[in-house]
Amino acid sequence: MDVLMSALGIRNSDGEIVKSLAVVIDITARKRTEEALQQSKRRYLNLINTLPYGIAEIDPYGKILFLNDAFCKIVGYEKEEIIKTNIWDHSLSAEEATRVKDYIDFVRKERPEPGPFISQNVKKDGSIIDVNVDWNYWFDQNGILNGYIGILTDITKQKKDEKDLINKADQLHLLAAHLQKIREEERKNMAREIHDEFGQVLSALKMNLGNIEHELNKENREDIMELVLNEIDDSKSITGHAIKTVKRLMTELRPEILDVSGLIPAAQWLVENFTGRYAIDAKFDCNVESFSLGREGNTAVFRLVQEALNNVIKHARASKVMVKINKEENYLHLEVADNGKGFDKSEMNKINSFGLIGMQERVLVLNGEMEIESENKMGTRLKVRIPIDN
Ligand SMILES: Nc1ncnc2c1ncn2[C@@H]1O[C@H](COP(=O)(O)OP(=O)(O)OP(=O)(O)O)[C@@H](O)[C@H]1O
Ligand SMILES: [Mg+2]
Repeated sequence: MDVLMSALGIRNSDGEIVKSLAVVIDITARKRTEEALQQSKRRYLNLINTLPYGIAEIDPYGKILFLNDAFCKIVGYEKEEIIKTNIWDHSLSAEEATRVKDYIDFVRKERPEPGPFISQNVKKDGSIIDVNVDWNYWFDQNGILNGYIGILTDITKQKKDEKDLINKADQLHLLAAHLQKIREEERKNMAREIHDEFGQVLSALKMNLGNIEHELNKENREDIMELVLNEIDDSKSITGHAIKTVKRLMTELRPEILDVSGLIPAAQWLVENFTGRYAIDAKFDCNVESFSLGREGNTAVFRLVQEALNNVIKHARASKVMVKINKEENYLHLEVADNGKGFDKSEMNKINSFGLIGMQERVLVLNGEMEIESENKMGTRLKVRIPIDN
């Protein structure tokens, strides 16, 4: 049993103790409560210091009142070095410190919803860290603001990984744009070479055959005439066929109409050609007669229409397709809409499907936006918006 004893002596007029009074109080329960309190405090501190997250209590004005071991480890200072300092004292710069201080003032005055706050600090060894603070209010039992509890996480690596990822993505966009450009150049060179070499040779051959025919007609050699004439006819039709093939190949590589007449006639030609080749009713609508987005821009839009139409023929099972190009103030709008079977968005990222990705990359290079509206059995609508530099 624990007791608290106090005694009191009562004296007479000569100062002698004549009576004494002793009070004994049983404090066993109080002692146990105190011990239990100490025990629970130790347990709580143990728990707090074992957590991998930095935990701090700060007053309403930003002064640090309490912090755990992980907090010290994250910011790289000893407890005694940061207790009672301000939360912004080790911010990366004076501007960053002001931002943190302003935020604390704002929270104290405006009482916004608690949430995460991201900041940059300098550790004692001079290294810079990115930290995320998830904070909440800390009120006393009367509802008066005592300060805030903050949970600090070191997100330096996460931030760096994010930055690396963005850089990698930027590099991939640049690479994709570069590859598209090279591909177009190569196509153009190939078309030119086919024209210069193959096309001219075939034309010359055709001309020669015509000459032979002419000469033989003059000689009037009846005996071999029929045979030779048949051979020549045959050769002429083969050559004519080859010339047509060369022309088609050249057009497929890079249609001359795009360079000679411009984007709008080229797109119109593409749509008309499509109707001619496939049993799909393809329509073209445009609110301007001619328009240019520059050489690369024109090629990109042309290829967008081409790839969209290819997708219609490959996947849509549509009976109608509408291609619209409209110029409105600062934007060029392209829309390709079919009435086919449509598709689910998840199909867009199929392995070995690069058409839509390539289109997206082309649009990105032009600082534009691309959107696809499609649902099963509801047709597909591709919408592209490209800013026009005035
Ligand atoms: N107009 C459309 N109608 C129905 N499905 C479509 C349409 N356009 C695209 N798709 C669907 O989206 C997928 C991805 O299209 P994408 O053009 O990226 O690749 P692909 O046509 O399959 O192959 P690639 O274009 O690389 O030769 C297609 O496989 C198809 O399932
Ligand atoms: Mg495709």
